[in-house]
Amino acid sequence: MQIAHDEKHRIAQIISFFLSGEKIAHRCAARQAKLSNDPLTRRFLLTQSRQEKFHASVFQSAIMWLRPKGVHCPAQKQMQQYEDLLNSSIDNNDLLASTLGMQVIFEAMGDVALSHFNHGINKRNIGYSKIRQTILAQEDAHLEFGLNYTEANKTAAINSKYTEDYLTLINDIFISLDSYFEIFDEDSHLYHSEFQRNLPSWMQHETLNNYPNN
Ligand SMILES: [Fe+2]
Ligand SMILES: [Fe+2]
Repeated sequence: MQIAHDEKHRIAQIISFFLSGEKIAHRCAARQAKLSNDPLTRRFLLTQSRQEKFHASVFQSAIMWLRPKGVHCPAQKQMQQYEDLLNSSIDNNDLLASTLGMQVIFEAMGDVALSHFNHGINKRNIGYSKIRQTILAQEDAHLEFGLNYTEANKTAAINSKYTEDYLTLINDIFISLDSYFEIFDEDSHLYHSEFQRNLPSWMQHETLNNYPNN
């Protein structure tokens, strides 16, 4: 294991950001399952909720190993605002809007952050590569579900009033994360453009309209 002492704290902080994301995804998918009458959709969402709980437990033990006393979590305020927005779409029985928020936009952001984290950790030869691959594969399936579900309901998805607010908050989250991910990539401010490429093409146009400088 090759991890410099001064990197431990920063890596633990990044992991605590993932931990808070996993907890949000776990709670959100469990609530979403109650909104669907379709048995396959319900089963997928309940499975996702269980997987997110497993991911949270993996990250929790990694933090305990790196920093037993715990660390400050980056972007905590923005993540709380994001969960509030997800809850508001669920409270409105709007499964499509919550899917846009969770399985499309949130998972697309998580994919970028987790992939760079994984790459940085591989370079440090810390191990646990199998469990990290398992988590990434499960996250891919969550994003794919979101893309398929919203493609099947495309017109309503394009007209969802929530998308702009989700995208604005994700942009805030990326900005708050910039300095943390510099440990892995000097150009971590470019993560936002990678995130955009994970989105459906109609939504990419929307993000470009919102953030013309990206
Ligand atoms: Fe997860
Ligand atoms: Fe996920």
